[in-house]
Amino acid sequence: MRILTFAGSLRAGSFNRKLLNVAVETLRSRADIDLLDLREVAMPLYDGDLEEKEGLPEGARRFKARIAAADAILIATPEYNNSVPGPLKNAIDWASRPPDNPFKGKVVLLMGASPGQFGAVRGVLAVRLILTALSAIVIPQMGLIPRADQAFDEAGALKDPKSRNQVEKACAELLRVAAALTAPGPEAPR
Ligand SMILES: Cc1cc2nc3c(=O)[nH]c(=O)nc-3n(C[C@H](O)[C@H](O)[C@H](O)COP(=O)(O)O)c2cc1C
Repeated sequence: MRILTFAGSLRAGSFNRKLLNVAVETLRSRADIDLLDLREVAMPLYDGDLEEKEGLPEGARRFKARIAAADAILIATPEYNNSVPGPLKNAIDWASRPPDNPFKGKVVLLMGASPGQFGAVRGVLAVRLILTALSAIVIPQMGLIPRADQAFDEAGALKDPKSRNQVEKACAELLRVAAALTAPGPEAPR
């Protein structure tokens, strides 16, 4: 089981990177983790003229390849103005361009952290809508961390046992669903 993981925030001190790290620690013994920093696959703003002239930018091609190589995906994202952060939306938009849609059939777990009281739930739900449109299988469980500025200890662990439990349960469900869906089974009708 190979899981691609990345945060929807680019900044080094991101709470969502911290959340991602907590989740990765719970997954590491049970899956191969590909820990991506979206900065590694930096890409310009989507521009149809650029795409027509030059095809997909290098960063977008590398992002698509990382998605394609994964069985499942874990994203921890903030919300910007109640919705999906621009850099994450831009990366998904480029990755969705033909010839292939690497999100199709991928099992996805979404998490979010925010210093506010809603734990980025509106951003997470916006990402769910986008990935569902791309035929990803986004599991219902989420890991949402409100008051993220106070949620982590010095070592980066979640202080609240309920939050830790929520993250662990969501990760376990990601593994369960991904294992079930990647197991050989009857061909779906086309
Ligand atoms: C453009 C912008 C819009 C934001 N809008 C929201 C918002 O709607 N809700 C919220 O809880 N926080 C909002 N924030 C605050 C972010 O949650 C906060 O900066 C958070 O630390 C970003 O996540 P990160 O720590 O992973 O980088 C916004 C921040 C930025 C830069």
